[in-house]
Amino acid sequence: MDEQVTLPSPTMLQEVIEGLRKDQKTLPSKYFYDQRGSQLFEEITELDEYYPTRTEMSIMRNNMPDIIRTLGSDIVLAELGSGSSTKTRLLLDHLSCITSYVPIEISEQYLAKVVQNLNQEYPDLQINPVCTDYTTPFQLPAISEPYNNIVFFYPGSTIGNFQPPRAKAFLKNLSTLMGPGDGMLVGVDLKKDINVLEAAYNDRQGVTAQFNKNILRHINRKLDTNFNLSKFSHKAFYNRQEGRIEMHLVSRINQTVAIEGQAFPFEKGESIHTENSYKYNIAEFENLVSTWFSVEKIWTDANDYFSIQYLQKK
Ligand code: AVI
Repeated sequence: MDEQVTLPSPTMLQEVIEGLRKDQKTLPSKYFYDQRGSQLFEEITELDEYYPTRTEMSIMRNNMPDIIRTLGSDIVLAELGSGSSTKTRLLLDHLSCITSYVPIEISEQYLAKVVQNLNQEYPDLQINPVCTDYTTPFQLPAISEPYNNIVFFYPGSTIGNFQPPRAKAFLKNLSTLMGPGDGMLVGVDLKKDINVLEAAYNDRQGVTAQFNKNILRHINRKLDTNFNLSKFSHKAFYNRQEGRIEMHLVSRINQTVAIEGQAFPFEKGESIHTENSYKYNIAEFENLVSTWFSVEKIWTDANDYFSIQYLQKK
């Protein structure tokens, strides 16, 4: 993929300007993820401090027979964001009764690669990819073979990156694509010791700091802006009242950034809020989903750090 020739999208420009005009400056966290950002996120998932990925994997491995039984037979497995290929393979290796795998992914190149690799590894698997931003309304493809149920797979606690009202809008939207008996297997990060939480977003190697700053690098490249990355510091902390990790980029000096001829001044110490990562307890998550889904099963690890939950459409 040649990212240099990608044209700046007007929505990115609008969103960046809108976010930086607010009293608490913000940038949409989706802009972490260009090629470099996706690579940095992969590195984060392997860090000692970042417990979610390996904990979720171990929960899956330890409970596979029960998970497979719960998902049922002859299902359509629709994965929201097909980035987590290792977790997908864990399921595909055990789901002999899958009618079709539907990876749903915004990046066309990435999706094509996923499909190509899976076609080689699972020659008998029917794959029906969908290239779309799954946070906006979309349709599932027609599946030629008969199947029993649709199961969405949404690992990684990515649902925690939505503010609760947006998470609800997203769940409502998904539920319109589902019928009785359809379900969702979702990874949900749980509330825990604040030191464990804060360490996960402040790793010693500084990979999360690079990931956070990559949002500015991505915006510089796409919008021809002049954010000076060395003049911003990474900050991540747990906001107990909101029940979320917040990531910020803090201006180290008084400075002005120019975007399309408009000046955006920063005072020393002023921050751009770049990400929220909500942590739920079991009751809070049930409350979040309960208008559309019933929580049928919950699998956790021995420390209760993370959960995988099976939700059924009401
Ligand atoms: C993708 N998402 C679930 C990650 C999280 O933990 O909220 C993104 C991330 N941000 C910093 N580290 C990882």
